[in-house]
Amino acid sequence: MNIVEVDRLTKKYGDLTAVDQVSFSVHEGEIFGFLGPNGAGKTTTINVLTGLARPTSGTAKVSRFDCAVEIKKAQQIMGIVPDESNLYEEFDGFENLCFCAALYGMKKNEREKKAKDLLEQFGLAEAGKKPFRAYSRGMKRKLTIAAGIIHDPRILFLDEPTTGIDVASARQIRQMIQNLNRSGTTIFLTTHYIEEAERLCDRIAFIVGGKIVRVGPLDELMREVQQENVLQLAFAEGISNLKSSLQQEFPDVVVEVSGNQAIRLRSSRPLNLTPLMRFFEERNLPVYEARIMRPSLEEVFVKITGIELERMKQEKEGKGKQ
Ligand SMILES: Nc1ncnc2c1ncn2[C@@H]1O[C@H](COP(=O)(O)OP(=O)(O)OP(=O)(O)O)[C@@H](O)[C@H]1O
Ligand SMILES: [Mg+2]
Repeated sequence: MNIVEVDRLTKKYGDLTAVDQVSFSVHEGEIFGFLGPNGAGKTTTINVLTGLARPTSGTAKVSRFDCAVEIKKAQQIMGIVPDESNLYEEFDGFENLCFCAALYGMKKNEREKKAKDLLEQFGLAEAGKKPFRAYSRGMKRKLTIAAGIIHDPRILFLDEPTTGIDVASARQIRQMIQNLNRSGTTIFLTTHYIEEAERLCDRIAFIVGGKIVRVGPLDELMREVQQENVLQLAFAEGISNLKSSLQQEFPDVVVEVSGNQAIRLRSSRPLNLTPLMRFFEERNLPVYEARIMRPSLEEVFVKITGIELERMKQEKEGKGKQ
């Protein structure tokens, strides 16, 4: 059964089309991943589904409720963890959780018990007494997730839950996501950490420039690269003009230039290194590093979108530092 149905959804901001005729569905019980670079339209899609933005055209439904018409009903069954926390800086952890529970109409003793349980479960029992403003980024994210699940939602929307926090908290959060999913909660997740999507998600949509370029189960996406041999070569100096001559010399190999100092070669047959190395030697371009890439979701993403993940990560982390 589908818990989310999005049909030809478009969202415009003035002249800018942030989401462009996007269609997909999320199956009840799965972890669905939304992957794409900065400005791809991930947050905008989540905002429409959670009622924070109105669609320009098309429909978005959660549990059959149209998010533009019956958002209050849809919100009863969804939990929302935005990329920037929506909790109160001056409230302590316990108060924040109780406040959110009250918004969902939970009774006093019920919400206090639930808040205590969640603080315990998220390793925040002590921190529960401190004001939110005194929390580290990792603690803030964990409390925001706790607030998002206080009413036991059927589906949880997580916008980049592990971006910009320490490694240990990120690992804990991934574990929590898996535990929640095992206990029956559907998860809708955006992330730019492709390894995270590969580890967690059952199905994945790649979104670029407001359009979904591919959506499918992880194993189906992975099948595209399982039969491939991929070699990445790094050089100490720029190789930007090399692509066409390399492609001419090795017509059976697909050549992709990634950045100014690296080349990726793909082939359905094993790659013979000797003629390749000779090619670079003759041009006085010593190979600095050669790496055989294991089949990964990263390979699928690069192949389908042509976007280098390193670039995507740097953009993100650059953004985080601002
Ligand atoms: N409220 C808004 N007003 C105007 N433009 C907006 C608004 N929200 C988003 N946009 C624009 O819509 C596009 C999609 O933005 P969105 O935040 O959905 O991307 P994203 O995939 O979540 O990116 P990121 O990885 O940076 O979080 C961007 O070009 C963004 O500048
Ligand atoms: Mg975003």
